Amino acid sequence: MAVIHVDAAKANLIKAGFLDLDINPTLDLFQEIERLKKEKNAIILAHYYQEPDIQDVADYIGDSLGLAQQAEKTKADIIVFAGVHFMAETAKILNPDKKVIIPDLKAGCSLSDSCPPSLFKQFKDQHPDHKVVSYINCSAGIKALSDVICTSSNAKIIVDSFPKDQPLIFAPDKNLGAYINKITGRNMLLWNGACMVHEIFSLEKINKLKLRHPEAKMIAHPECEDAVLRVADYIGSTTQLLKYTQTDSSESYIVATETGILHQMMKDSPNKTFIPAPPDNACACNDCPHMKLNTLEKLYLCMEYELPDINMEETLRLAAKKPIQRMLEISAKAGL
Ligand code: 13P
Ligand code: SF4
Repeated sequence: MAVIHVDAAKANLIKAGFLDLDINPTLDLFQEIERLKKEKNAIILAHYYQEPDIQDVADYIGDSLGLAQQAEKTKADIIVFAGVHFMAETAKILNPDKKVIIPDLKAGCSLSDSCPPSLFKQFKDQHPDHKVVSYINCSAGIKALSDVICTSSNAKIIVDSFPKDQPLIFAPDKNLGAYINKITGRNMLLWNGACMVHEIFSLEKINKLKLRHPEAKMIAHPECEDAVLRVADYIGSTTQLLKYTQTDSSESYIVATETGILHQMMKDSPNKTFIPAPPDNACACNDCPHMKLNTLEKLYLCMEYELPDINMEETLRLAAKKPIQRMLEISAKAGL
């Protein structure tokens, strides 16, 4: 495997995201990335919310569950995680001996940020009889305080794995938690966190859009607010939404989730129409600003220099690994 040495000062700047190295404009980045993959035995795992160019060079594109499963089983030496920090961190938790790199270390997540471990610990301590189910969109610190992790693909199955009379805390997404409470008949205590992208959809504008496109089905991610979910024909994780559009007979869809998923939907069903659900104002707020920090250029640079990489303290890693492993086991048993 080729190792490229960067001097320590430059490495620190790249790591902190402060150095935009010049890229030779004549380089074919798609070709270069393919070359680096082979030379370094690297795999690119990309979330559906990544920009289309990144999705097109990825070895695997998926939702949070699929990405964690791929990260667990890969034989590559380097995992290039084209997603946000908590996703790359999960890959590192599962693969302490592999190098895990991310195009932009600043690619965070508003939902994860809404749940600081010190505050969550206080909340948890107030409810000692409760078990904790945490959505994967959280830091390693929150995972370490949890009994089991879930994603939007398996949240119902994970919650159903507890006896009905077991009191539960669900963190950090109050919208996903409320949706799971509704479909399981539970009364889980919800941490008051939300995703800035999925909270921005305007019900009023969606209803107007539905009137203009009566033939279109409305599909939504469960991170959306209850009012939006109530008018959806189908609710699911990004992979589930994609599969639905591949198998359902309708010819058009209003899609209430981050716009990155439209790339695969259009690729897989070129004759169907996909309309992004409108946000509350004129901004492009249903583009996740964190996910979109990653670019093809940064992806190339991070593979070239093998930076920025994810590292964490071993005690934290081991504590965070347990609930992730539990999630993967329950999911495998359920055939997910
Ligand atoms: P899924 O990948 O589980 O669909 O979740 C979407 C999301 O918001 C990831 O940040
Ligand atoms: Fe976080 Fe929402 Fe962006 Fe997903 S879409 S990374 S939950 S801010």
